[in-house]
Amino acid sequence: MKNVILTGFMGTGKSSVGKELALQLNYRYIDLDALIVTDAGISINEVFAIEGEAGFRFRESEILSTLTGETGIVLSTGGGAIIVDKNREMLHELGFVVNLVAPAEEILRRLKHENDRPLLNDNKSLERIKTLIASREPFYADADVRIETSGKCVTEIVDLILIWLKKVGAIGQV
Ligand code: S3P
Repeated sequence: MKNVILTGFMGTGKSSVGKELALQLNYRYIDLDALIVTDAGISINEVFAIEGEAGFRFRESEILSTLTGETGIVLSTGGGAIIVDKNREMLHELGFVVNLVAPAEEILRRLKHENDRPLLNDNKSLERIKTLIASREPFYADADVRIETSGKCVTEIVDLILIWLKKVGAIGQV
């Protein structure tokens, strides 16, 4: 029974999919961003404002390293956690890495009214999203499986992940 790690750009549905997947597997759902917020005692916007992206990435790696040895978890990571080599190593050690993919247009639609994504708060344009996705593509590609989420509901995505998990022997019959 392997842990499941969800990676993917902001707005690809990691949290909704992660929660439902955890329910189906009877695993614990962990949201890395939520752990950072609890530990820091301030919001992600505030961490970025006070400590910059470097400070946030430092916290992200620190919190991630505390999860070593966890079992029975579905972990949803922040969209940029995979840009740090050490983080990707930790994620692969921790479990089966599933990368959720969505087109930039859909991500923009989903995040249009959100203001809790510091990397997009100043410039929430299609170009900005496309550029950021492109710069991260090699890191998102470093996954055990990639799932295109466009046009699929949460249940369909979860079912696809369950099929993959069975296929690679990460879980038994569910
Ligand atoms: C970030 C994604 C966010 C959060 C932070 C930075 C990124 O998480 O970790 O704002 O660098 O892509 P979500 O992907 O859950 O929105």
